[in-house]
This record gives sequence, C-alpha cells and structure tokens, in this order.
Amino acid sequence: MTGPGSAAGTVPSDRAGCLALDAADPLAGLRETFHLPDGVIYLDGNSLGPLPRATAARLAEVIGGEWGQGLVGSWNTAGWIEAPHRVGDKIARLIGAGPGEVVVADSTSVNLYKAVWAAVQWQRAGDPRRDLVLCDRTSFPTDRYLLASACASLGVELRAVAVEDVEHLLDDRVAVLALNHVDYRNGRLHDLPVLTRAAHEAGALAIWDLAHSAGVLPIGLAEAGADIAVGCGYKYLNGGPGAPSFVWAHPRLVDRLDQPLQGWLGHRAPFDFAPEYLAAQGISRFQCGTPPILSLAALECGVDSVLAAEPLGGLAAIRAKSLALTGLFSGLVAGPVARHGLVSITPDAAPERGGQVALRAGGDLDPYAIVQALIARGVVGDFRAPDVLRFGFAPLYLRHVDVWDAVQVLGEVLDTGRWRRHRRAHRSVVT
Ligand SMILES: Cc1ncc(COP(=O)(O)O)c(C=O)c1O
Repeated sequence: MTGPGSAAGTVPSDRAGCLALDAADPLAGLRETFHLPDGVIYLDGNSLGPLPRATAARLAEVIGGEWGQGLVGSWNTAGWIEAPHRVGDKIARLIGAGPGEVVVADSTSVNLYKAVWAAVQWQRAGDPRRDLVLCDRTSFPTDRYLLASACASLGVELRAVAVEDVEHLLDDRVAVLALNHVDYRNGRLHDLPVLTRAAHEAGALAIWDLAHSAGVLPIGLAEAGADIAVGCGYKYLNGGPGAPSFVWAHPRLVDRLDQPLQGWLGHRAPFDFAPEYLAAQGISRFQCGTPPILSLAALECGVDSVLAAEPLGGLAAIRAKSLALTGLFSGLVAGPVARHGLVSITPDAAPERGGQVALRAGGDLDPYAIVQALIARGVVGDFRAPDVLRFGFAPLYLRHVDVWDAVQVLGEVLDTGRWRRHRRAHRSVVT
C-alpha cells in the first residue's frame, strides 16, 4: 500500500508496501554480495561501508600468494605497481572521468592539500593578484584545516563562505574555489556543474571533495569541466577502514600542476633513482610514496562491489534507489520527528539531496544518547557534534523494509524515552 505523498514522493503506508518495493528493486540481488551482521540495519555506509564478501578471500590471496610466495617479485608479476592506476580507472567510471585520469594515493586530506597547493601555484604563476581561496564554511573540518595550512604556506587568504553566496563572491582575486560536493552534516548536494561554471567565469579553478558522493550518485566531472577532485575510498566505495583516497585532475590541466609532495612515485622514472625530481606526465604526478597494496586490494573489491551495479542500471539506478530510500525515511520519520521536536536539516528537494538524512535534536534531547539507543537496538547511524543524528542510505544493500524497520525503532526509542538510559558522561572517541 502507498500512503500520502511527502515532499520526497509517495511513501508506502505499511511494511507490506516496502516489501513490495523491494520485490521490484533491480539492485536487490547485490545485497548478497556484502557481509551484513545479523540483526543490524546499517545506516552508516556513508561513514564506513560494509565488508564486501569478496574482500576476505582476495586479501588472503594477496597475503598468502602474492606476498607470501611471490615476495618482492609481485611488484611486477602481480600488478602491484599498476594497482593505483588500475583501481583509479575503475573509480573513473564512477565519477565521470576517463581512463588514465584517476590515481589512488594517500588520504583525502593529503590529496586535498596537494590539489589546492598545486592549483593556487598555477593560478598565481599566471596572475599573482589571485591571492584568495574560497571554501564552504560548513565543509568537513579536515578540508578547512588543510586548505588553511596550504594557503598559509603560499601566503594567500582562505575565506570560508556560505555556498549560497559563492556566485556573488567569485571575482578576479579568487584563485580557487574548493567545495564539498555533499555537505557531510546536512547532506545537501551542491550543484557541481553550475558552481564549476561560475568559478571558471571568474577565472578561478574548481576543486571538489567527493567524499560523500562517489559511489552513490552520478558525478560527471569531465562533462562539468571541473578542474580537480579528491574523494574517499572507505565510504560508499566500501574499501575498508582507512582505505586510500583517489585524485583526479582534468587532462587539460594536469601536466601544469606541480604538487608539493614530490616523492619518488610521482617521478617520471622512479627506478632511474635520479638525483633531481622530474614530475611524471598525467595524474601519476599526484602519487608520492609506495602504494599500500593490501589496502588497495581491499579498495578494489569495494569499487567492484559498486561496479557490479553497471549491468543493472549503474549509477542512475543507484541514484534512483538512493533518492527513494532517503525520501522514504524522510516521509516515515516526519511523525516521530514532529512529536519530539527534532528537525530534519536535509533538503526535501531530490536534486539537492545526497545519500543521507540528518536530524537535529534540540531541547532536552540528547542526540548522542539517541544514537547509542538505536545502536543497542541494531540500527547503526552516527552522531555529529553538536546536535545531529546522521543516517546514510547506501542502495547496494539497504532495502525499503530496512528503512521502515529503522523508523519504527527510532519512534519507539523516542516515544518510550529509552534513550535516556544511554546518557553518558563521556562519549566514545569515535562518534
Ligand atoms: C568531506 C570529507 N572529506 C574528507 C574526509 C576525511 O578524509 P581522510 O580520509 O583524509 O580522513 C571526510 C571524512 O569523513 C569527509 O567527510
């Protein structure tokens, strides 16, 4: 059965309606490709994706066979040295880039530093008056910290602004616009093509952090003409805790970018062991040191878990289901949210929504305790200080019925006040 429409679309009015949607879901079969613990509804794949079933066997092969037996020869015989590019090529298919344009290296934090430093240097070489970097003031903290440190080392100003104001603030002082594609806290999806165009019209370069969009929605980097992008391997790409990051730079620009961490693997001929640094052609120059082969193997399995959707409609099908799940959650949760004074801070309009829904809990509600009470009942979301409950909806393994059941649990936790038992004087280190 379906009930009244919400801003998010028509939502089923009972559990059977959700089961019917699951029965018609083209991506339903992919759930089996993940290890999901019994009794858990996992709404945190936007923080750490779950374990693909293929990963453990693949890592056993890499450890036992390639490392154990092949030893150092595996750099050549097992494709280790090409792995950053091989996995990069697979990620390229998910972000709208071409083969040879993406490399896996380092962390998102480190890649962002390299990217902004290189972009500002290039801009200032052309016009030294460009001494300003704009970023979103709600960006993930590591972005702010690293942009600030790159700007400080280059002697340029960093200004954190509201994304709504960016188009008015772009002028001939701006060297770089650096934005999060999806806001990590409220889940707002920023308009990458429009903001990239606005940056270019002002002569600025556009750098995007795709941490919360890669693997859950089509991005179309090349089509939008973006300049540089970085992103996470461990969220929707299911690459495992601390999975390495990826970086892309537009082919028209990449060979002009001198990134600051000039390590031997970004060299044109690393095994010449030459005394002078000579940057590699193309995106290879964004590599720095030895690639983490075990983590890369796990990341490749994670990326493959997303690419498995290609024959089933690919990112368009993933995005359609993602919007259906976030819309369903928003519609179902509206009752409990209103009863208990929570507020959804995620945009209702589908084109403005990433893959998550965030609720703000004010008054005497303790959002951390609410999340702990949910986890105790098998519904895993997360808390983002100071007052946000965040729920991610990864379409590869979540069902509509999971959304229904999760909302029932949230309603009970709030209605019964059970969350009060989870109040703690101290929070865990990781929230
Ligand atoms: C938007 C964004 N950028 C960067 C990061 C983290 O980067 P790193 O993998 O370097 O810790 C996160 C982590 O959640 C994030 O949400």
